Amino acid sequence: MSGKPVCISDFEDYAKKFLPKSVYDYYRSGADDEETLADNVAAFSRWKLYPRVLRDVSVMDLSTSVLGQKISMPICVGATAMQRMAHPDGEMATAKACQAMGTGMMLSSWATSSIEEVAEAAPDSLRWLQLYVYKDREVTKSLVKRAERAGYKGIFVTVDTPFLGRRIDDVRNKFQLPPHLRLKNFTSNNLAFSSGKDFGENSGLAVYVAEAIDSSVKWEDIKWLRGLTSLPIVMKGILRADDAKEAVKLGVNGILVSNHGARQLDGVPATIDVLPEIVEAVEGKVEVFLDGGVRKGTDVLKALALGAKAVFIGRPLVWGLVYQGEEGAKEVLQMLKEEFRLAMALTGCRSIEEISRTLIRRHDVLLSKI
Ligand SMILES: Cc1cc2nc3c(=O)[nH]c(=O)nc-3n(C[C@H](O)[C@H](O)[C@H](O)COP(=O)(O)O)c2cc1C
Repeated sequence: MSGKPVCISDFEDYAKKFLPKSVYDYYRSGADDEETLADNVAAFSRWKLYPRVLRDVSVMDLSTSVLGQKISMPICVGATAMQRMAHPDGEMATAKACQAMGTGMMLSSWATSSIEEVAEAAPDSLRWLQLYVYKDREVTKSLVKRAERAGYKGIFVTVDTPFLGRRIDDVRNKFQLPPHLRLKNFTSNNLAFSSGKDFGENSGLAVYVAEAIDSSVKWEDIKWLRGLTSLPIVMKGILRADDAKEAVKLGVNGILVSNHGARQLDGVPATIDVLPEIVEAVEGKVEVFLDGGVRKGTDVLKALALGAKAVFIGRPLVWGLVYQGEEGAKEVLQMLKEEFRLAMALTGCRSIEEISRTLIRRHDVLLSKI
């Protein structure tokens, strides 16, 4: 890349050049053969936009809300672990960037800055906590209670990770945190994933998950979580209509259609392709969000046209952090915002309410009907 980044892949090119290989590999990779990793991005191009013209788009409003909280645009930041490997300010830079941009940030349980540090760094930011259910339920409970106390506005419980997906690069690299970092939400060395431990011939993170995360989690545990907090709860990692219906029955407030950025089970569909059936299944009873492969303003528009309330970005934000910390994260968000604004204008939408299902059709389906 020469000069300033002009699209999201420019940020990734920069990160690839300047990050240590094992760190870049950790951020980039997907599970197994990475079929779904490629498809998350490619699937967006199977959906085509049908613009409306002559609709006076001289004044636009991109604002919307997530779980009752107002945001300046339907583009939020998803949980990506260990952001201090990307930039020394890590999650604190992300929170400041989100605060400046008027959007929300989901903090990973596996952050390299604590729940409280992030809240202090950007007190006016909108923050949610991403939750992994630990074998030790007291640990899990304390994460939720700390998020409540520190002013977080919701819990995104990740339900697709009873074990870590097999990420080949991480296995080859025997991925671990660098020695100066730890998972800051935990005090015990075992839960903090501190380096120096012998994880054998495997990804250190895969071993950590097998040891610490509860693979026996079931639907009843969502009831337990529901009883633990009055914060909104979103289930992150749903890909089926029946699971979505079950979640609604249990009183969750939202569904995040996600395949974990293709890092868990390879061979699952791209998230944009399953979004319509999840939206249909929940019958408007809860908010539906999407993450996975969002790289352009038109991707955001397509997800909203298919019924998502907002999208979350994972890797693009990390590449922004690598590029220039808080400023870089802001640049990524600003770039997506401007691209989204243009996509709205060129399809004749002045506000989020005007984005409708009539704007989009899936082309391989259409062609097969001819
Ligand atoms: C480097 C990295 C770390 C991630 N860490 C977490 C995590 O700690 N918890 C979680 O629920 N999801 C995690 N995810 C998944 C993201 O929340 C999100 O689902 C995914 O990144 C979206 O896809 P995208 O990267 O294509 O935007 C991670 C993803 C990446 C790329």
